[in-house]
Amino acid sequence: MRKLLKYPALIAAMMTVMTSCSSNTAENRETQAETSGNPAIENIMTRTSVRQYIPGKEIPADTIELLLRAAMAAPTAVNRQPWQFIVIDNRESLDSLAQALPHAKMLQHASIAIVPCGDLEKAFEGEPSYWIQDVSAATENLLLAAHSLGLGAVWTGVYPTKERVTAVSERLGLPSNVIPLAVVPIGYPEGDNQPKDKWSPESVHYNRW
Ligand SMILES: Cc1cc2nc3c(=O)[nH]c(=O)nc-3n(C[C@H](O)[C@H](O)[C@H](O)COP(=O)(O)O)c2cc1C
Repeated sequence: MRKLLKYPALIAAMMTVMTSCSSNTAENRETQAETSGNPAIENIMTRTSVRQYIPGKEIPADTIELLLRAAMAAPTAVNRQPWQFIVIDNRESLDSLAQALPHAKMLQHASIAIVPCGDLEKAFEGEPSYWIQDVSAATENLLLAAHSLGLGAVWTGVYPTKERVTAVSERLGLPSNVIPLAVVPIGYPEGDNQPKDKWSPESVHYNRW
């Protein structure tokens, strides 16, 4: 290197080659900055809500189990894991939920849906409302796992909208201690599903407001 320093023109030429090679394009540099080449970060940054699916394409049972395992790996208050998950793989039930939920019509084309629920009997008695954060964390894990497995999914809101909670609970025969948080339709993605850039430095505050 000390020898090279004598030849600034050579160094400049080498830098030009290095910066113009295809693995270091402006676009790539941006992606590298966003993900640091880390597959977990890459998965988080490229996830997006998917509302169109290849009709009728079945999801293997072991893939569904993997999704559920990922969901249950989420953190929970006092490690109570106050959840239940209803897997819906029956066309009639998917269509019936689509009919009941105004913003979940994509269920009509989904291969399955998973309904993450809070179980009040398992919730932390010191602060039972933590079930909402607990089950939300599980739901996000589920979305990320689906994306990493080449599936598309979307969180459709149920709780706290009373009519939606009632409609889903009735259709799925849930006991009164089990509250549906969301319905997550899942399938193999169709169409163009690009992630949104949500980076907002103005929303970051160091140490205090
Ligand atoms: C609590 C919650 C409720 C949502 N409800 C719906 C819904 O009912 N229908 C729907 O299509 N998307 C729903 N979404 C998905 C959002 O619209 C979506 O996450 C948001 O537009 C950001 O897009 P992205 O997921 O592609 O980053 C919901 C998301 C959350 C977190």
